[in-house]
Amino acid sequence: RTRIETMKHSVLVTRQIPGDSLQRLREVCEVEVWPETLPPSRDELCRLVKGRHGLLTMLSDRVDGELMDVAGDQLCVVSNYAVGYNNIDVDAAKIRGIAVGNTPDVLTDATADLAVSLLFAASRHVLTAGNQVCDGEWKTWEPTGWLGVEPAGKTLGIVGMGRIGKATAKRLVGGWEMDLLYTSRSDQTDMEKELSGRRVELDTLLAESDFVSVHVALTDQTRNLIDEDAISKMKSTAVLVNTARGEIIDQDALVKALESRSIFAAGLDVTTPEPLSADHPLVKSPHCVILPHIGSATHASRNAMSEIAVDNLIAGLSDQPLRCSVT
Ligand code: DGY
Repeated sequence: RTRIETMKHSVLVTRQIPGDSLQRLREVCEVEVWPETLPPSRDELCRLVKGRHGLLTMLSDRVDGELMDVAGDQLCVVSNYAVGYNNIDVDAAKIRGIAVGNTPDVLTDATADLAVSLLFAASRHVLTAGNQVCDGEWKTWEPTGWLGVEPAGKTLGIVGMGRIGKATAKRLVGGWEMDLLYTSRSDQTDMEKELSGRRVELDTLLAESDFVSVHVALTDQTRNLIDEDAISKMKSTAVLVNTARGEIIDQDALVKALESRSIFAAGLDVTTPEPLSADHPLVKSPHCVILPHIGSATHASRNAMSEIAVDNLIAGLSDQPLRCSVT
Protein backbone atom coordinates (compact mmCIF):
# COMPACT_ATOMS: atom_id res chain seq x y z
CA ARG A 1 0.00 0.00 0.00
CA THR A 2 2.77 2.36 0.99
CA ARG A 3 4.56 1.66 -2.25
CA ILE A 4 1.54 2.51 -4.40
CA GLU A 5 0.81 5.66 -2.48
CA THR A 6 4.34 6.97 -2.20
CA MET A 7 5.69 6.07 -5.65
CA LYS A 8 4.38 9.38 -6.91
CA HIS A 9 6.26 11.19 -4.17
CA SER A 10 9.49 13.02 -4.63
CA VAL A 11 12.07 13.50 -1.89
CA LEU A 12 15.31 15.40 -1.59
CA VAL A 13 18.24 14.03 0.40
CA THR A 14 20.65 16.88 1.02
CA ARG A 15 23.82 14.74 1.22
CA GLN A 16 25.02 11.24 0.47
CA ILE A 17 24.45 9.15 3.63
CA PRO A 18 26.19 5.87 4.55
CA GLY A 19 24.68 2.39 4.35
CA ASP A 20 22.11 1.07 1.91
CA SER A 21 18.97 2.67 3.34
CA LEU A 22 18.63 5.00 0.37
CA GLN A 23 18.07 1.90 -1.74
CA ARG A 24 15.02 1.21 0.38
CA LEU A 25 13.85 4.75 -0.15
CA ARG A 26 14.30 4.51 -3.92
CA GLU A 27 11.97 1.51 -3.94
CA VAL A 28 9.08 3.58 -2.61
CA CYS A 29 9.55 7.04 -4.09
CA GLU A 30 11.55 9.21 -6.42
CA VAL A 31 14.78 10.32 -4.75
CA GLU A 32 17.23 13.07 -5.57
CA VAL A 33 20.45 13.13 -3.58
CA TRP A 34 22.63 16.25 -3.48
CA PRO A 35 25.87 14.81 -4.80
CA GLU A 36 28.46 17.27 -3.44
CA THR A 37 30.57 16.98 -0.29
CA LEU A 38 29.73 20.54 0.68
CA PRO A 39 26.10 21.34 1.56
CA PRO A 40 23.85 23.07 -0.96
CA SER A 41 23.78 26.86 -0.59
CA ARG A 42 20.53 28.46 0.56
CA ASP A 43 19.69 29.36 -3.05
CA GLU A 44 20.41 25.84 -4.22
CA LEU A 45 18.36 24.40 -1.38
CA CYS A 46 15.41 26.67 -2.22
CA ARG A 47 15.63 25.54 -5.83
CA LEU A 48 15.91 21.86 -4.91
CA VAL A 49 13.07 21.63 -2.37
CA LYS A 50 10.36 22.87 -4.74
CA GLY A 51 7.60 20.32 -5.19
CA ARG A 52 9.13 17.78 -2.77
CA HIS A 53 6.95 15.69 -0.46
CA GLY A 54 9.80 14.83 1.89
CA LEU A 55 13.21 16.19 2.84
CA LEU A 56 16.05 14.26 4.44
CA THR A 57 18.18 17.05 5.86
CA MET A 58 21.51 17.53 7.61
CA LEU A 59 22.22 19.69 10.66
CA SER A 60 23.88 22.19 8.31
CA ASP A 61 20.62 22.84 6.41
CA ARG A 62 18.42 25.61 7.80
CA VAL A 63 14.85 24.37 7.45
CA ASP A 64 12.64 27.34 8.33
CA GLY A 65 9.11 28.40 7.44
CA GLU A 66 10.36 30.17 4.34
CA LEU A 67 11.99 27.01 3.00
CA MET A 68 8.86 24.99 3.81
CA ASP A 69 6.75 27.49 1.87
CA VAL A 70 9.15 27.43 -1.05
CA ALA A 71 8.86 23.62 -1.04
CA GLY A 72 5.06 23.88 -1.29
CA ASP A 73 1.92 22.60 0.41
CA GLN A 74 2.62 18.98 -0.54
CA LEU A 75 5.65 18.83 1.81
CA CYS A 76 4.63 16.43 4.59
CA VAL A 77 7.83 15.29 6.32
CA VAL A 78 11.29 16.59 7.22
CA SER A 79 13.61 13.87 8.47
CA ASN A 80 16.75 15.27 10.08
CA TYR A 81 19.90 13.14 9.93
CA ALA A 82 20.87 14.02 13.53
CA VAL A 83 19.49 13.78 17.04
CA GLY A 84 19.71 17.58 17.37
CA TYR A 85 17.13 19.52 15.38
CA ASN A 86 17.92 23.15 16.17
CA ASN A 87 18.34 23.69 12.42
CA ILE A 88 14.62 23.06 11.97
CA ASP A 89 11.84 25.47 12.90
CA VAL A 90 9.62 22.87 14.51
CA ASP A 91 6.83 25.35 15.26
CA ALA A 92 6.72 26.41 11.62
CA ALA A 93 6.51 22.73 10.65
CA LYS A 94 3.70 22.09 13.15
CA ILE A 95 1.62 24.98 11.82
CA ARG A 96 2.01 23.61 8.31
CA GLY A 97 1.22 20.03 9.36
CA ILE A 98 4.71 18.81 8.46
CA ALA A 99 6.08 15.90 10.53
CA VAL A 100 9.66 16.26 11.81
CA GLY A 101 11.89 13.31 12.69
CA ASN A 102 15.36 12.86 14.18
CA THR A 103 17.78 9.99 14.90
CA PRO A 104 18.17 9.55 18.69
CA ASP A 105 19.78 6.69 20.68
CA VAL A 106 21.92 5.15 17.96
CA LEU A 107 24.62 7.83 18.31
CA THR A 108 24.61 8.02 22.11
CA ASP A 109 27.59 5.71 22.68
CA ALA A 110 29.66 7.18 19.85
CA THR A 111 29.11 10.72 21.09
CA ALA A 112 29.78 9.83 24.72
CA ASP A 113 33.01 8.10 23.65
CA LEU A 114 34.06 11.27 21.87
CA ALA A 115 33.23 13.44 24.89
CA VAL A 116 35.52 11.25 26.97
CA SER A 117 38.22 11.36 24.28
CA LEU A 118 38.04 15.16 24.21
CA LEU A 119 38.18 15.33 27.97
CA PHE A 120 41.42 13.37 27.99
CA ALA A 121 42.86 15.07 24.92
CA ALA A 122 42.33 18.51 26.46
CA SER A 123 43.56 17.40 29.89
CA ARG A 124 46.81 15.95 28.55
CA HIS A 125 47.71 18.30 25.66
CA VAL A 126 47.31 15.37 23.27
CA LEU A 127 46.96 17.53 20.17
CA THR A 128 49.70 20.07 20.84
CA ALA A 129 52.13 17.45 22.13
CA GLY A 130 51.46 15.26 19.09
CA ASN A 131 51.96 18.25 16.80
CA GLN A 132 55.36 18.84 18.37
CA VAL A 133 56.38 15.40 17.15
CA CYS A 134 54.96 16.02 13.65
CA ASP A 135 56.73 19.40 13.47
CA GLY A 136 60.10 17.82 14.30
CA GLU A 137 60.24 19.84 17.53
CA TRP A 138 60.47 16.89 19.94
CA LYS A 139 63.86 17.45 21.55
CA THR A 140 63.83 15.41 24.75
CA TRP A 141 61.80 13.91 27.59
CA GLU A 142 60.83 16.90 29.68
CA PRO A 143 60.31 16.52 33.44
CA THR A 144 58.35 19.77 33.52
CA GLY A 145 56.83 19.60 30.04
CA TRP A 146 53.21 18.93 29.01
CA LEU A 147 51.91 18.66 32.55
CA GLY A 148 48.22 17.92 32.55
CA VAL A 149 45.36 17.16 34.91
CA GLU A 150 43.85 13.79 35.86
CA PRO A 151 40.14 12.94 36.17
CA ALA A 152 40.44 9.94 38.50
CA GLY A 153 38.66 10.62 41.77
CA LYS A 154 37.78 14.21 40.78
CA THR A 155 34.37 15.80 40.25
CA LEU A 156 32.57 15.55 36.93
CA GLY A 157 29.86 18.06 36.06
CA ILE A 158 27.38 16.98 33.39
CA VAL A 159 25.36 19.90 32.02
CA GLY A 160 22.19 18.25 30.71
CA MET A 161 21.57 14.69 31.88
CA GLY A 162 19.90 13.36 28.75
CA ARG A 163 20.89 10.19 26.90
CA ILE A 164 24.38 11.34 25.93
CA GLY A 165 25.01 13.05 29.28
CA LYS A 166 24.14 9.81 31.07
CA ALA A 167 26.33 7.69 28.81
CA THR A 168 29.25 10.06 29.36
CA ALA A 169 28.68 10.03 33.12
CA LYS A 170 28.54 6.22 33.19
CA ARG A 171 31.89 5.96 31.46
CA LEU A 172 33.66 8.43 33.70
CA VAL A 173 32.04 7.60 37.02
CA GLY A 174 32.38 3.86 36.40
CA GLY A 175 35.83 3.93 34.85
CA TRP A 176 37.55 6.77 36.67
CA GLU A 177 35.60 6.76 39.91
CA MET A 178 34.61 10.38 39.52
CA ASP A 179 32.05 12.10 41.73
CA LEU A 180 29.08 13.25 39.72
CA LEU A 181 27.19 16.54 39.72
CA TYR A 182 24.60 17.23 37.07
CA THR A 183 21.97 19.67 35.90
CA SER A 184 18.72 18.37 34.53
CA ARG A 185 15.22 19.61 33.86
CA SER A 186 13.84 16.62 35.73
CA ASP A 187 14.79 14.40 38.65
CA GLN A 188 16.99 11.50 37.62
CA THR A 189 16.53 9.02 40.44
CA ASP A 190 18.27 6.25 38.48
CA MET A 191 21.36 8.46 38.21
CA GLU A 192 21.25 9.29 41.90
CA LYS A 193 21.15 5.57 42.71
CA GLU A 194 23.36 4.10 40.03
CA LEU A 195 26.08 6.73 39.90
CA SER A 196 25.58 8.51 43.21
CA GLY A 197 25.06 11.69 41.22
CA ARG A 198 23.80 14.92 42.78
CA ARG A 199 21.47 17.23 40.87
CA VAL A 200 22.56 20.84 41.43
CA GLU A 201 22.13 24.32 39.99
CA LEU A 202 24.45 25.22 37.13
CA ASP A 203 26.42 27.71 39.26
CA THR A 204 27.18 25.04 41.86
CA LEU A 205 28.15 22.56 39.16
CA LEU A 206 30.54 25.03 37.57
CA ALA A 207 32.11 26.04 40.86
CA GLU A 208 32.61 22.50 42.19
CA SER A 209 33.45 20.47 39.08
CA ASP A 210 36.95 19.68 37.85
CA PHE A 211 35.64 18.56 34.47
CA VAL A 212 32.50 19.98 32.88
CA SER A 213 30.87 18.26 29.91
CA VAL A 214 28.02 19.96 28.03
CA HIS A 215 25.12 17.85 26.73
CA VAL A 216 22.05 20.09 26.57
CA ALA A 217 20.12 20.58 23.34
CA LEU A 218 20.45 24.00 21.73
CA THR A 219 17.32 26.08 22.40
CA ASP A 220 16.66 29.76 23.07
CA GLN A 221 17.14 28.91 26.76
CA THR A 222 20.53 27.24 26.33
CA ARG A 223 22.08 29.58 23.75
CA ASN A 224 25.14 31.11 25.47
CA LEU A 225 24.34 29.17 28.66
CA ILE A 226 28.07 28.95 29.32
CA ASP A 227 28.78 32.67 29.08
CA GLU A 228 31.49 34.85 30.63
CA ASP A 229 29.79 34.87 34.00
CA ALA A 230 29.37 31.08 33.98
CA ILE A 231 32.96 30.47 32.94
CA SER A 232 34.20 32.83 35.67
CA LYS A 233 32.69 30.45 38.24
CA MET A 234 34.83 27.53 37.06
CA LYS A 235 38.01 26.35 38.76
CA SER A 236 41.30 27.49 37.22
CA THR A 237 42.20 23.81 36.86
CA ALA A 238 38.91 22.90 35.16
CA VAL A 239 38.48 21.36 31.72
CA LEU A 240 35.41 22.21 29.64
CA VAL A 241 34.10 19.79 27.00
CA ASN A 242 31.32 20.42 24.47
CA THR A 243 29.92 17.78 22.13
CA ALA A 244 26.42 19.31 21.91
CA ARG A 245 26.20 22.55 19.90
CA GLY A 246 28.71 25.39 19.59
CA GLU A 247 26.18 28.15 20.37
CA ILE A 248 25.78 26.88 23.94
CA ILE A 249 29.19 28.34 24.83
CA ASP A 250 30.07 32.01 24.39
CA GLN A 251 33.24 31.49 22.38
CA ASP A 252 34.64 34.99 22.98
CA ALA A 253 34.36 34.38 26.70
CA LEU A 254 36.06 31.01 26.27
CA VAL A 255 38.92 32.59 24.31
CA LYS A 256 39.45 35.08 27.15
CA ALA A 257 39.31 32.37 29.79
CA LEU A 258 41.87 30.22 28.00
CA GLU A 259 44.16 33.18 27.30
CA SER A 260 44.08 34.32 30.91
CA ARG A 261 44.33 30.70 32.10
CA SER A 262 41.23 31.14 34.21
CA ILE A 263 40.35 27.58 33.17
CA PHE A 264 42.85 24.86 32.27
CA ALA A 265 41.66 23.69 28.85
CA ALA A 266 38.72 23.03 26.56
CA GLY A 267 37.79 20.23 24.19
CA LEU A 268 35.19 21.07 21.55
CA ASP A 269 33.55 18.92 18.91
CA VAL A 270 31.18 21.75 18.01
CA THR A 271 31.79 25.44 17.33
CA THR A 272 30.14 28.59 15.99
CA PRO A 273 30.30 28.70 13.05
CA GLU A 274 31.12 25.31 11.60
CA PRO A 275 33.63 25.11 10.12
CA LEU A 276 35.63 27.44 12.36
CA SER A 277 38.36 29.22 10.43
CA ALA A 278 41.94 28.14 10.99
CA ASP A 279 42.92 31.60 12.25
CA HIS A 280 40.25 31.68 14.97
CA PRO A 281 41.84 32.23 18.41
CA LEU A 282 40.34 28.99 19.69
CA VAL A 283 41.97 27.03 16.89
CA LYS A 284 45.25 28.81 17.61
CA SER A 285 45.00 28.25 21.37
CA PRO A 286 47.37 25.60 22.73
CA HIS A 287 44.79 24.98 25.45
CA CYS A 288 41.93 24.05 23.17
CA VAL A 289 41.34 20.85 21.23
CA ILE A 290 38.85 21.23 18.39
CA LEU A 291 37.37 18.46 16.28
CA PRO A 292 35.17 18.92 13.19
CA HIS A 293 31.85 17.77 14.71
CA ILE A 294 32.54 14.04 14.57
CA GLY A 295 30.63 12.88 17.68
CA SER A 296 28.43 10.43 15.80
CA ALA A 297 31.02 9.53 13.18
CA THR A 298 31.31 5.77 13.52
CA HIS A 299 30.21 3.23 10.91
CA ALA A 300 27.69 1.68 13.29
CA SER A 301 26.20 4.94 14.41
CA ARG A 302 25.94 6.66 11.03
CA ASN A 303 24.49 3.55 9.36
CA ALA A 304 21.88 3.28 12.08
CA MET A 305 21.11 7.00 11.69
CA SER A 306 20.51 6.37 7.98
CA GLU A 307 18.06 3.60 8.80
CA ILE A 308 16.05 5.75 11.18
CA ALA A 309 16.11 8.80 8.91
CA VAL A 310 14.77 6.73 6.00
CA ASP A 311 12.16 5.02 8.20
CA ASN A 312 11.02 8.46 9.37
CA LEU A 313 10.79 9.71 5.81
CA ILE A 314 8.83 6.71 4.54
CA ALA A 315 6.45 6.85 7.50
CA GLY A 316 5.87 10.57 6.96
CA LEU A 317 5.19 10.09 3.26
CA SER A 318 2.60 7.44 4.03
CA ASP A 319 0.99 9.54 6.76
CA GLN A 320 2.07 7.10 9.49
CA PRO A 321 3.60 8.05 12.87
CA LEU A 322 7.36 8.55 12.50
CA ARG A 323 9.72 6.04 14.11
CA CYS A 324 11.39 8.94 15.94
CA SER A 325 9.34 12.11 15.97
CA VAL A 326 10.53 15.32 17.63
CA THR A 327 7.03 16.53 18.48
C1 DGY B 1 23.55 15.17 16.15
O1 DGY B 1 23.06 14.09 15.78
O2 DGY B 1 22.84 16.08 16.58
C2 DGY B 1 25.03 15.30 16.09
O3 DGY B 1 25.43 16.56 16.40
C3 DGY B 1 25.56 14.86 14.77
O4 DGY B 1 25.34 13.53 14.60
